[in-house]
Amino acid sequence: MKYNKQRNEKATKWLGILLFLTCWLGTPAIGLAHNPLETPDPDYIEYPDDDPPPETWVQLGKTLFFDPRLSRNDTQSCATCHNPDLGFGDGLTFSRGANGQTLTRHTPHLYNLAWSVIFLWDGRANSLEEQALEPIASEEEMNLPIDELVNKLQEVPQYRQMFEEAFPESGINRETIAAALAAFERTIQSVNAPFDQYIQGNTSAMSAEAIRGLELFKGKARCVLCHDGANFTDDGFHNIGIGDADLGRWNIQEAATSKGAFKTPGLRNTTLTAPYMHDGSIPTLEAVLQHYNKGGNPVEGLDSLIKPLGLNDQEISDLIAFLGALTDPVTVIRPLIP
Ligand code: HEC
Ligand code: HEC
Repeated sequence: MKYNKQRNEKATKWLGILLFLTCWLGTPAIGLAHNPLETPDPDYIEYPDDDPPPETWVQLGKTLFFDPRLSRNDTQSCATCHNPDLGFGDGLTFSRGANGQTLTRHTPHLYNLAWSVIFLWDGRANSLEEQALEPIASEEEMNLPIDELVNKLQEVPQYRQMFEEAFPESGINRETIAAALAAFERTIQSVNAPFDQYIQGNTSAMSAEAIRGLELFKGKARCVLCHDGANFTDDGFHNIGIGDADLGRWNIQEAATSKGAFKTPGLRNTTLTAPYMHDGSIPTLEAVLQHYNKGGNPVEGLDSLIKPLGLNDQEISDLIAFLGALTDPVTVIRPLIP
């Protein structure tokens, strides 16, 4: 949990500075408290054992990720919905499961989840290992009980060998399947966008528009209040006024602010991941900005941080240029499926 510690240390430091400013200026400067926007630091990845896994785990996890055997009818792999060529999504409002059913939430991207501590739109998984088996067993998604998957993999000599090499003590079981998938997912890292080059000192890496957009992002447009830190997420839950029937976080934890609240998605590579939001209801980044600019829809539970912004057209296009400067695609060479 090094990452949390770092966040806390930084938060404490910033809080101290802000308290000082608040007292000194006599104005509530507290509003824009945030963790610094920076390049993700590999030292703060949430590895379960604190160390990166061996390459054998990553290769095995990658093979499993692309293997349609993970669905009961052999039609669907993780990559069907999380396609690396489509920003690790599938470009649809709602994906379809292996039996053709339409899902009820939009498929999120998988960028830089190595640094995350909470997963799924409502945060019901606490680790990538915990999340990995859910879509396989879910009847709406891949519809394959994990015991059956274990049997299926046992029948493939190459998998027996890969598991033997990666996990000589335990072979093929729930835990090792999850560990391998999570090990691969943690390698989906995007850390060299124009923004990263810019904050590392290459001032020509971002256009003048994008630089203005960054200032708006941290200031007038208030984005940084929720999209902060190296991956532009506070790992928290907010109701930003989308206003469909899904109660989101409330289903997991009934709290004053959880009704209609969803996990703040990281904003790296959003140029590649349209459409947007937990219900895929916003088709473009421009429409996302229009949504925030009007202060969201007036729904019950709307987060108090969401307010009309009064941005003009130039400011909106500056913000879009800044989001564009967070683009650094991750290419994955598809493995041979045994
Ligand atoms: C049929 C489409 C589909 C398939 C197949 C699928 N997923 Fe997903 N995935 C989704 C949807 C939809 C969500 C969001 C669900 C929610 O939040 O309730 C999601 C969420 C996730 C998340 C959470 C991301 C975040 O930001 O919190 C991870 C990680 C993930 N999937 C990994 C996988 C892995 C690994 C596999 C294969 C074992 C897989 N998915 C198979 C559709 C799919
Ligand atoms: C109050 C916290 C908050 C603020 C302020 C905020 N966001 Fe968000 N953002 C979220 C949450 C939560 C979601 C997901 C909401 C959902 O799906 O219902 C989100 C979703 C998004 C998405 C879609 C990402 C995806 O993968 O679907 C983009 C893009 C985005 N925000 C950009 C911005 C920009 C730009 C600003 C400033 C104008 C901003 N946000 C301000 C919390 C916030």
